[in-house]
Amino acid sequence: MRILVTGGCGFIGSNFIRFVLEQNSSDVLINFDKLTYAGNPANLADVEKIYGGGRYHFCLGDIADREHVLAALEEYKPDAVINFAAESHVDRSIHDAMPFINTNIVGTQVLLQACFDLGIQRFVQISTDEVYGSLGPEGKFTEQTPLDPRSPYSASKASADFLASAFWHTHGFPVVITRCSNNYGPYQFPEKLIPFMFRQAVNNEALPVYGDGLNVRDWIHVKDHCRGVWLALTKGAPGAVYNFGGDAERSNIEVVRRILQIMGKSEDLIRYVKDRPGHDRRYAMDFSLAARELGFAPEHSFEQGLAETVKWYQDNSEWLDTIVSGAYLEFINQWYTKRERL
Ligand code: NAD
Ligand code: TYD
Repeated sequence: MRILVTGGCGFIGSNFIRFVLEQNSSDVLINFDKLTYAGNPANLADVEKIYGGGRYHFCLGDIADREHVLAALEEYKPDAVINFAAESHVDRSIHDAMPFINTNIVGTQVLLQACFDLGIQRFVQISTDEVYGSLGPEGKFTEQTPLDPRSPYSASKASADFLASAFWHTHGFPVVITRCSNNYGPYQFPEKLIPFMFRQAVNNEALPVYGDGLNVRDWIHVKDHCRGVWLALTKGAPGAVYNFGGDAERSNIEVVRRILQIMGKSEDLIRYVKDRPGHDRRYAMDFSLAARELGFAPEHSFEQGLAETVKWYQDNSEWLDTIVSGAYLEFINQWYTKRERL
């Protein structure tokens, strides 16, 4: 199969490309990426070396630009398109929502329309549990849970889901939507909780925990997510939505304490800071539909997976250092100044 992946230089997209190339000897992967601050070609340096020009091709482009998208589809003639490309960080969406509207909503519409116009046979839209909103202490999100997004990020992702679903209902375009919980693993951009806290701890700097630290996320190893996406691509019913989760609900403070423990650092580094505005309290995924219809089950235990992930960041300090550029630090500083006023 020829698969065009958007956002393949990001965290999940790069893991997915590596996962498919390593598991299958014939699939060809085309990576269409704009290379925003979160897109890092170094995430695929090994892939480029082994498969570049053969089973792997990189194509610079913006999903919101119809000419770029059409040119790539016409040149590479994929059988399937998987849309990982997005602005993905909630704090950034609070800081400035416009890039989220442009890529997550306009970009998804442009991509859907171009793929429909050129008769692409399969389209997978990568979505998130955050479109369902926030849970109280009990219950889990199912695919029937009404969408109730609460951050600019999740509102933009929910909008994309509605557009994808409209293409199925209106045109019969075979879209599958996957909604996954919080991912962790190698190559995650260090603005997200786990690599961010790792980096703070390495530098013996404060670990800022938002609010009371009792917000809960359902953590899934990125490789389990990649397997779920592969199953949705190859076995999913057109028009269907599939939830994926890791069966690993943990509070933020538990995660932060565990990182410190693995690294042999003191909990004195923890600082409770002002809460994120509109901070969703709890996410938990019921993925029984994906288990039944696709044979999906997460294979990594969170504690083992987290220990391996911390080791990966320790072993790849050069990768981390090159990402943490001036522009990244500028955002973190601006954000911490601004959020005090929110
Ligand atoms: P990421 O921020 O690490 O990477 C995003 C990638 O998309 C980057 O390579 C970037 O250059 C590219 N990109 C951004 N705008 C683009 C555009 N206009 N055109 C082409 N490429 C563009 O994101 P991630 O964490 O890998 O998330 C990937 C997808 O999975 C997103 O759709 C996200 O909403 C979804 N998701 C993420 C998580 C998570 O925990 N990270 C959980 C559930 C769902
Ligand atoms: P994040 O990785 O930004 O993912 P999301 O907001 O999409 O779930 O954050 C995960 C959780 O960690 C979330 O509840 C916010 C919290 N958090 C902190 O407490 N401190 C931090 O510095 C960051 C980045 C996140």
